[in-house]
Amino acid sequence: MTIPKITLNNGVEMPQMGFGVFQVPDLTEAKQAVADALQTGYRMIDTAASYQNEEAVGQAIKESGIPREEIFVTSKLWVSDFTYERAKKGIDASLEKLGLDYLDLYLLHQPYGDTYGAWQALTEAYRAGKIRAIGVSNFYPDQLKNLELMSSVKPVMNQIEINPWYQEEPAVAFAKGESIAVTAWAPFAEGKGDLFNNATLKEIGAKYNKSVGQVVLRWLLQRGIVVIPKSVHQNRMAENLDVFDFTLSDADMAMIRALDTGVSQFFDHRDPVTIEQIFGSSLNQLR
Ligand SMILES: NC(=O)c1ccc[n+]([C@@H]2O[C@H](COP(=O)([O-])OP(=O)(O)OC[C@H]3O[C@@H](n4cnc5c(N)ncnc54)[C@H](OP(=O)(O)O)[C@@H]3O)[C@@H](O)[C@H]2O)c1
Repeated sequence: MTIPKITLNNGVEMPQMGFGVFQVPDLTEAKQAVADALQTGYRMIDTAASYQNEEAVGQAIKESGIPREEIFVTSKLWVSDFTYERAKKGIDASLEKLGLDYLDLYLLHQPYGDTYGAWQALTEAYRAGKIRAIGVSNFYPDQLKNLELMSSVKPVMNQIEINPWYQEEPAVAFAKGESIAVTAWAPFAEGKGDLFNNATLKEIGAKYNKSVGQVVLRWLLQRGIVVIPKSVHQNRMAENLDVFDFTLSDADMAMIRALDTGVSQFFDHRDPVTIEQIFGSSLNQLR
């Protein structure tokens, strides 16, 4: 089975489907999950400094025996490293923990603090060949535009929450218009809203003999979005990858579109309470 690739705005190719490892802090479990994912056929892994499992991801990649250039590795810089100087060290720390000479994609994890200083460090690491492509996560269109205008290197990617309850059509359209690719995090909303038992998604799946999870991933892929579902179970890893042999009709896509609530299932990144929660705890390290 071949996973389709998208071409980022700097010419780098990236698999449209990958494997996420958020909330797998146990290093043994994370290593096993990545090993299983690679064995199942995934060739793109999405981790982050804040997930505290970069070492495990690196070890699983190394021990897989798969040539480095066949695996696309994404990681993210956490807000506690959002100054120019700290970001330079943060990039090197990610590389060291992963045991890699280069990262395929590195993202600013959140739109808070000194994103410009941190972005400058990413830009330099990109130019130095330490990172093949640089981007952001959780940026709203205005923040993305501001960064683009401030930067000599355009972000290739914005990784944001997208799932049937929070479809983010305007944000996706904006990014596409700027030639910036979009990755959906929490494609299943981590099961919130009883997603896996939703009657509409089940009904659509029944037509193609596919599960709710497969319908959701297919809906995202047909919107041109990169997906990084997470599972620690190999049968689910295989199920999630098995989405390239059917196509949802326009009517199916419209039925799913009607499920949008327009409300994040996790946090409103513009809410001052969220900003305090995500960024406030890092201030001690930054001062
Ligand atoms: N940039 C950001 O701020 C950000 C934020 C959150 C996540 N992410 C990235 O996005 C990735 C995916 O998001 P996520 O992990 O939060 O949530 P998700 O992929 O929406 O959901 C993961 C949950 O769904 C379950 N699951 C997976 N496949 C399933 C299937 N086929 N049937 C039934 N249940 C299934 C998993 O359980 P089991 O593991 O028990 O199978 C897990 O509990 C993360 O791993 C991370 O890489 C990024």
